[in-house]
Amino acid sequence: MIHLFSQGEDRSAPTLVLFHGTGGTERDLLPLARIVSPASSVLSIRGNVLENGMPRYFRRLAEGIFDEEDLVLRTAELYQFLEDAARQYGVARDNFVAIGYSNGANIAASLLFHYGQSLKGAILHHPMVPRRGIKLPGLMDTAVFIGAGANDPICSREETEELASLLRDAGADVSIHWERSGHQLTKTEVDAATAWFERNF
Ligand code: MLT
Repeated sequence: MIHLFSQGEDRSAPTLVLFHGTGGTERDLLPLARIVSPASSVLSIRGNVLENGMPRYFRRLAEGIFDEEDLVLRTAELYQFLEDAARQYGVARDNFVAIGYSNGANIAASLLFHYGQSLKGAILHHPMVPRRGIKLPGLMDTAVFIGAGANDPICSREETEELASLLRDAGADVSIHWERSGHQLTKTEVDAATAWFERNF
């Protein structure tokens, strides 16, 4: 997978794994990583599905309607990539914290839905429920921050709360931060995610 890795100054800090939104690249969220945890190593991955030339992490049939088969396959592929990257770059596999926005938040949520030990924590900016009707793995040691917009036309309030309760039922420690805005990522949401990260890691 196309990606960037940079070694952080603090080798005990979590490695931040970055997932951009639809149409983005592995460079988009680098400024966020520097705000959230400046001394962390960073692994930023470009989605390897193209929708009209726009990179994303899995196929969709329409806005918010996911190609479930592709989602499962891409999630497995990504999980394997994380395993390989930890070995290749010599970073602790059990110390990965994701930061994802929109489609990137959805693939990070999908990692949590399918693999118990995939992430130690996740900052999900404007995520959706990636999949329904499956039993989630135990997420007892996983901390999740959800940033949501009360006026987000893509992720409804109900869906945000559904995602939080599915993750909580699996044992995750979930915090939801509400903005009054829509789908965009605001400075105050990033500040809230940073404060959450500092409390948890
Ligand atoms: C998705 O496809 O993951 C969501 O609709 C979010 C987006 O990328 O627009």
